[in-house]
Amino acid sequence: MNRLRVAIDGPAGAGKSTVARRVADALGLLYVDSGAMYRAVTWWVLERGIDPDDEEALSKLADEIRLELRRDGLSVRVWVNGRDVTPMLRSPQVNRAVSAVAKVPAVRRRMTELQKEWAARGGVVMDGRDIGTAVMPDAEVKVYLTASLAERTRRRMEDLQQRGHCVSAEEVRTELAERDLADAHRAVSPLVRAPDAHLIDTTGRDVESVVAEILALCRPFLSEEAWPGG
Ligand code: DC
Repeated sequence: MNRLRVAIDGPAGAGKSTVARRVADALGLLYVDSGAMYRAVTWWVLERGIDPDDEEALSKLADEIRLELRRDGLSVRVWVNGRDVTPMLRSPQVNRAVSAVAKVPAVRRRMTELQKEWAARGGVVMDGRDIGTAVMPDAEVKVYLTASLAERTRRRMEDLQQRGHCVSAEEVRTELAERDLADAHRAVSPLVRAPDAHLIDTTGRDVESVVAEILALCRPFLSEEAWPGG
């Protein structure tokens, strides 16, 4: 079995989930979207009517919430208290509140523990903000994906429109910039590039070329049989 671990970090809208899923599919690895876990906690916070800035309430909730990842083919679905919440995680409401929830140390502790359990099995591509620094610091392949704010705004707009949400470009740009700032400046596991992560700027590049670049980084860790087309 292929035990390769690939960590992909970067800011919102850099293309991490699309690229990570494609790399996982090409290599037959499991794709774990760590942001979906922070989004699931946020969805539950909003559902319960808790203020996302109430750190004490969030810490308590982090201890109580029953959050599970269940494998579904080559990806995972997120379950909260016995319910599959995966389709609920990409709403503008969750987008706005998720950084506040993700900066709470008790929430991060719980999520990181779970992510490490999945990472320990190996054979995984995981994307997020602190995967190469905190969750899988010893991953064989680490990538830091980025793109200009204008490009990330355009991609996020497309994504939201496809999901039927009506938002202005200005709103999306502001939300992304605020989220970048919050994610990069929080006290625990901020978004930073691991010193040994390969930097890839996806501005103006198509998905195929970025995926090919990451596959090439994985190549030395794969057997002939595990290499796509090999
Ligand atoms: O990748 P995403 O947009 O789905 O992530 C949602 C939020 O979750 C993001 O603003 C920051 C947080 N996050 C995090 O703090 N650490 C991770 N490993 C993944 C996401």
